[in-house]
Amino acid sequence: MSLADRVRHPALLERVMSAHEAAALIPAGANVGMSGFTGAGYPKAVPGALAQRIEGLHAQGHPFKIGVWTGASTAPELDGALARAHGIGMRLPYQSDPTCRRQINAGEMQYIDMHLSHVAQFVWFGFLGKLDVAVVEVAGVLPDGRLIPSSSVGNNKTWLDQADKVILEVNQGTPAGLEGMHDIYYGTDLPPHRVPIPLLRPQDRIGEPYLHCDPDKVIAVVVTDQPDRNSVFAAPDENSQRIAGHIIEFLQGEVKLGRLPRELLPLQSGVGNIANAVLAGLNEGPFQHLTAFTEVLQDGMLDMLRSGKLASASATALSLSPAAMDDFVRHLDFYRERIVLRPQEISNHPELIRRMGLIAMNAMIEADIYGNVNSTHVMGSSIMNGIGGSGDFARNAYLSIFMTPSLAKDGAISCIVPMASHVDHTEHDVQILVTEQGLADLRGLSPTQRAQRIIERCAHPDYRPQLRDYVERARRGATGQHTPHLLSEALGWHQRYVETGSMRA
Ligand code: COA
Repeated sequence: MSLADRVRHPALLERVMSAHEAAALIPAGANVGMSGFTGAGYPKAVPGALAQRIEGLHAQGHPFKIGVWTGASTAPELDGALARAHGIGMRLPYQSDPTCRRQINAGEMQYIDMHLSHVAQFVWFGFLGKLDVAVVEVAGVLPDGRLIPSSSVGNNKTWLDQADKVILEVNQGTPAGLEGMHDIYYGTDLPPHRVPIPLLRPQDRIGEPYLHCDPDKVIAVVVTDQPDRNSVFAAPDENSQRIAGHIIEFLQGEVKLGRLPRELLPLQSGVGNIANAVLAGLNEGPFQHLTAFTEVLQDGMLDMLRSGKLASASATALSLSPAAMDDFVRHLDFYRERIVLRPQEISNHPELIRRMGLIAMNAMIEADIYGNVNSTHVMGSSIMNGIGGSGDFARNAYLSIFMTPSLAKDGAISCIVPMASHVDHTEHDVQILVTEQGLADLRGLSPTQRAQRIIERCAHPDYRPQLRDYVERARRGATGQHTPHLLSEALGWHQRYVETGSMRA
């Protein structure tokens, strides 16, 4: 496809320039809203060119940092390049880049870890300050200036609307067949004028396939031809397969009890290898005619769509391995009928999640004996990635499931601890905990009942005696018996790990 076929708006075709020329238009101190969600649909050229410019300016003694706002995580070409150039002052709302992580944990980069459904509305409300520039990857431009979205939608609608200036990256490598897969809803308004979102089922389309953008705001168009990050998933290991097995058995039990329909309720599946393994388990499992209302489409969901187990899937981004991306492109007509990509303020909207009654399945770092879940922090202080959409889904889902292997770091860490060293999901938002050891259904249990169930069903046998001992002593020594804790000891396991390299007593 020629460039003129991709950029069909004559005035915008005249604004084509190099990535370096476009990067020169971004001023120091700007807040820049970039496209990109879980390594999909991020700008491929301008961030790297900007990083080079920043390195040059720093070498001459000129300070230069920007605020980087995205949909979620991006890729080495964006987060990695700008972080290595020490060019990011403030990062939000989610990252998973090793260099960013190192700088955040060293106190060199500020980071706001946010619920992903909050980001767009916080910008509309003015809570985050002014958005100066948007840098958004698109698949093409229509003659009237509307944009064909790329492999993720994320916050692009908001960036294009709110930014003073817009730089478009037109990725010629994006399959033309993506056109028509997106559903961009423009009915959101600010309180007190908000109305219900008219989406009743995951596969509903309530908007239009294109993004709006005032062509007068577009200061540059940069042409690229590069694939997304497309990371490979690990083959499901034994622990992940056992976790998947426990979840499937549990869901079968819920169907038998009449608490779930035979085709279940719309699935939300989190990021990472364990989540992907659970999908592989569901693909082998007994359920048919499933639907998904989720944030990212990983390989496992594509497999389920191909096998027919999954009838349709709604998400805000693709997050596929190279092999799955090949399959996706080869069968785009098949997938376009079954996949809807939406803005993240809709894919993660609490109103829709509560109304449709989702089954939310997310990975975690640790849980405590009372059911509080930490998804983000190692040893209470160091950020791993961020809360992402897990909070949007967990609090509002019909069933909120959190999963992890029972041990980390070769057994030096128990993922079930007396007190979570950081809480992202409170005991009130967590209904089911799963490890390879088993599944703890916490519904209808008081804190002390939960503690017993979590220890006996989810903790690794090596750590159960230590946990039982803690609970028994807390029952004797705590100042209250509703959620008994020994305050001087509650985080003692983490402290022991920091001091000795192991949580073992
Ligand atoms: N304490 C310290 N480190 C721990 C730990 C614990 N209790 N549990 C796991 N880890 C470490 C692992 O050792 C591993 O470290 P490594 O990278 O040095 O090998 C790392 O955390 C990742 O763990 P892993 O078991 O490979 O899990 P994962 O890839 O499934 O990721 C999360 C797990 C929690 C980090 C990830 O799911 C996440 O970031 N979640 C938050 C966002 C979210 O839920 N998004 C979905 C919403 S739609």
